[in-house]
Amino acid sequence: MKKIPLWIDCDTGIDDAFALLVAHGLPALQIVGISTVSGNVHLEISTPNTLKVLQLAGASTPVYRGAAKPLCREYHDASEFHGPDGLGGAVLPQPLRSPEEKPMWDALYETAKALNGELTVATIGPMTNLATALQHYPDLPHYLKQVVFMGGSASGGNCTAYAEYNVYADPESLQMVCDSGIPLVMCPLDMTHSAYLTAGDLEDLAAANTPVTRFIHESSGVLLGKNLEAGLPGICQHDTCPLMYLAHPELFSGERAGVSVELRDEVTLGKTYVDFAAAEANALVLLKLDRPGFLAAAKAALLSY
Ligand code: RIB
Ligand code: CA
Repeated sequence: MKKIPLWIDCDTGIDDAFALLVAHGLPALQIVGISTVSGNVHLEISTPNTLKVLQLAGASTPVYRGAAKPLCREYHDASEFHGPDGLGGAVLPQPLRSPEEKPMWDALYETAKALNGELTVATIGPMTNLATALQHYPDLPHYLKQVVFMGGSASGGNCTAYAEYNVYADPESLQMVCDSGIPLVMCPLDMTHSAYLTAGDLEDLAAANTPVTRFIHESSGVLLGKNLEAGLPGICQHDTCPLMYLAHPELFSGERAGVSVELRDEVTLGKTYVDFAAAEANALVLLKLDRPGFLAAAKAALLSY
């Protein structure tokens, strides 16, 4: 099986950590680089969090630091959901290695050129890094196969009534990517809300009693409790969706649409407009997920360590 060369851009919080552990357990993916950004928590925390999770996975994937703040707005974190440490209070050993010296935009461009248009980028945090890379290297779109991103919504937000967090955190960056001409696959809340684990699913995983499953149980507890109190069925693994789509596209379905972002109105700032009747669609928008299939593939990946 030909592996998919993949670069992951993340703001390692709880579901980013879950996604990184699943991704490194999916045989179809060849993860060639990872970059970090300020999002759920600041870059100074999301970077060591990423290194700690990779260490738990036994992965030596190079990690490159990216932007500490959005393109042109103030930085807002999501620590109310992910905890001040970004990992829900779960404790992992200090990373034995450091991030690479090179900034992510230089490393991504060099990697994309070396792979001659075969590189896929998955973004699972605010799009600041990819937008910054486009500013530094305007010809980057020629060397990327596609961008698969977790972000936005066709039907209401989770950060405001209108905007999903990754887009609200840096709306201009998503608009820049939407305008770039790079083939896009969007994983909106409409679909990622189906990618949840119940308390029972988490207990099943914890029963395996491995370092990876113990970490997932420990990092999920507080957020799971908050979600259950709010009447949600479990903890959504939003960030695993782009990576699972690449490895198991058969678990997803969607439609092409024209995607754009509200940048002016302060009330609806960060709202994603998803026009399924657009004359020129710029994205495949994934709307449906086979949840049992998703769960089975994610559990298999997590139990492969
Ligand atoms: O809205 C969900 C997204 O916001 C996920 O990427 C989660 O990690 C947070 O960044
Ligand atoms: Ca994220």
